[in-house]
Parts: sequence; C-alpha cells; structure tokens
Amino acid sequence: MVGATAALPVDHVRAVPIAEVDLDTSAVRPTGIGELDRVLSGGLVPGSVTLVGGEPGIGKSTLLLQMVAEQAKRGAVALYLSAEESAAQVRLRAERLAALPPRLLLAADTALPVLLAHLDDAQPDVVVVDSIQTVYDPELGSAPGSVAQVRECAARLVREAKRRGIAVALVGHVTKDGALAGPRVLEHVVDTVLSFEGDRHHALRLVRAVKHRFGGTDELGLFEMTAAGLVGVPDASGLFLADRHRGVPGSVVVPTLAGFRPVLVEVQALVTGVVAGTARRSTQGVDGRRLPLVLAVLQQRAGVFVADREVYALAVGGARVAEPGADLAVALAVASAFRDRPLPDDLVAVGELGLGGEVRQASQLERRLVEAVRLGFRQAVVPLLAPDVEGIRLHRVSTLSEALGTLGV
Ligand code: TYD
Ligand code: MG
Repeated sequence: MVGATAALPVDHVRAVPIAEVDLDTSAVRPTGIGELDRVLSGGLVPGSVTLVGGEPGIGKSTLLLQMVAEQAKRGAVALYLSAEESAAQVRLRAERLAALPPRLLLAADTALPVLLAHLDDAQPDVVVVDSIQTVYDPELGSAPGSVAQVRECAARLVREAKRRGIAVALVGHVTKDGALAGPRVLEHVVDTVLSFEGDRHHALRLVRAVKHRFGGTDELGLFEMTAAGLVGVPDASGLFLADRHRGVPGSVVVPTLAGFRPVLVEVQALVTGVVAGTARRSTQGVDGRRLPLVLAVLQQRAGVFVADREVYALAVGGARVAEPGADLAVALAVASAFRDRPLPDDLVAVGELGLGGEVRQASQLERRLVEAVRLGFRQAVVPLLAPDVEGIRLHRVSTLSEALGTLGV
C-alpha cells in the first residue's frame, strides 16, 4: 500500500494507484442516432451534462427531440423540458418527426424549481432542457436570461444530473460571432459541449464536439435536414457531388477531411475581367483568410495575374473546406477559371501551398485518395511524398507552377 493513513473521513474513497481506477465504460448509453454517437464517442454518459450550442433555427430542438424519442423507444424514460416553446408546439414537431413513444414525457415551464420537480416526478434516465437561456430561478435576484441566471441554473442542473445519475442535454443559443449567447461561462460547467453548425440555406448540418470529457473531439457528425427531421449522412461525398456539372472551368474536387472521415467537396472559382479600383475577393465555405494568400502565390510564383480582377471562390452545397490542404485545389480552380479552361472531370487535388509556391504535404493523404477512388476519380494532383493508391494515377508535383504545367492551365 502506498502512503497508508488513518486520517481520511470514513465516507471518502481512498486514493488508489491510477491503473486500478475503474473505467466504468459500460455506462455509456448510445443515443440511437449514429452520427451523434460518433461525436460523443459512443453515446451519453449518465450523470453528465452535454451542452448543444448553435444558432437559432439550425435544428437543435429537432435533433434533441429525435434523440430523446430514440432513447424512449429503447426503453429509457426520457423527459423533454421545453422552456421556450409550448407543449403543443413541441408535440406538433414530434408528430412531424414520428417521435411519439409513450416513454417520452413532455413538460413546458421556465422556472427552475418546477423543472426540478419534474425530475422528481418522472424519475427520467435522459433529460433535455430547451433552452438553458430561458430557464430562470426566481430565488436569484437577477433578471431571466442574464448571465448570472443562466450560469446558476446550469450549475444546479449539473449537480442534479450527477446526484441522480441522469444524462442531461442543454440547448444553448449561439450568437452570430459564435459565442454561446452570454453564457460562454457554461462551457466549463458542463462535461461536453457540442456545436451544431450549418448554412441555413443548405440542408447540411455538422455536429462537432468542442469539449468532451469522455472522449476525443476529432469526429464530426453529418446530417441532412429533411421534411421529416435530421437524417444522418454517412456518404457525404456522394451528397456533395450529386449535382456536379462536368467540363466547367473553375471547378476542382478536393478530398478534404471531416474529422477522421475523408469527404470530397467541389471547389468552384470565378474570375471576372479587369476592374477599376479595389478588386473584391469573396468566399463561401472556403477559408476567406487563405484566399488572398493563395492568389498572391498564384500571381507571384505561377504567373496567374489576378490582382486587378474580382475572385469568387466557394465550396458547393454548403460544405466547408477550411484546411490548408485545400490550397492547391483552390489555386487550380482559380487558374482554371482565369484561363477559362476546364480541368479533367475525374481529377482531384490536395496539398498545402507555401509562400514560395511549393506544394506541401497534407495529412491522411492515403485515406483521402481511397475515398476519391470510391467516388470514381481516376487522377490526382498531390504533393511529392503522396503514397501510391490503387485505382488512381498520381501527378506528384513539388510546386504550383508544375501542377499548372502538368494540367495545361
Ligand atoms: P429547430 O429544431 O426548431 O431549430 P433550433 O431549435 O436550433 O432553433 O429547427 C429549425 C428549422 O428546421 C425550422 O426552420 C424548420 C426546419 N425543420 C425541417 O426542415 N424539418 C423538420 O422535420 C423540422 C422539425 C424542422
Ligand atoms: Mg429550438
């Protein structure tokens, strides 16, 4: 025994060698929604609190209602506490989602003591509170919605979740700039923070873990918002490439990464004629801070003169390619648009650009190329050190101008 002592109070668990600590992984409760379980490293942990943040209208209530309905269908007692919408409104949504299992209980209230009484009453296994910003404790002096209210109410719910061993999910609205409206402070009160993102004009939704006490934060969940709620998208590449037009100048497909999953995304560029004054650069889904860098490299290192032209670059279908590994594809798309020459339809491009015009390694190249082969692509422009992958011809290049030369643009 290490450092034996008799001074610990009786109800304390003695410190043990770290390797002897119980892992208790059996407790993880799959949500029944595959894409969510992927992000949560298997599911919800009883006694833990998960905050689901996202902009209004993105689909948080839909996702969590689907989640508790799935839990109830699997035999858990699930409780949905609506502090924002009336019970009738939530029921209407549930009908649309075919989410009306008998073990899913619903109550609408905003006062914390009432919500806690519902916990006593229903003895649930899983609880959703929608949203934490509209819950208030009348015993606190501060106004409903204030930071103090939100923080105190969340802290109380965290204590109750731990004490009762309930898995709790809190909805939190996020403002445009990405902060959880007011209660950024919530992030360290809870065990897990999920961010629910997407472009409201597109059906695609992403869920990522910003913080996760019970697993990694690298996986991404992909959903499509349909008329019958959120549907997991296991084949994102297929979705993004579904309506691709062939032979259009300015189009390049990049095998990007969504968490650990390779996803093929079409990058498009448009270059206008010479304009007077400051030329605009506009992006959507493509990293707006990297585009000027890519354009500067194109101009200075590869002779593609775009300084006095407007350049538009976007990732098709509401996808996002924010990684440097997409540089080469963006550069090739701009060059192809500039020269008005399409690139081969069966081509993908991946690699990071250095300021010297050199094409650098991107992570997980093999997995990206395997995904490209799966979707029918047969050639790829890649950095020099790319590994061979069966079914695809590699154009290994060390510089951007070499890539342009190889492709004839
Ligand atoms: P909602 O879950 O209410 O968003 P949040 O709680 O994040 O504010 O969903 C908002 C949008 O989703 C709404 O504009 C309607 C749309 N929607 C669908 O397209 N299909 C559906 O089945 C449901 C329930 C909602
Ligand atoms: Mg909502």
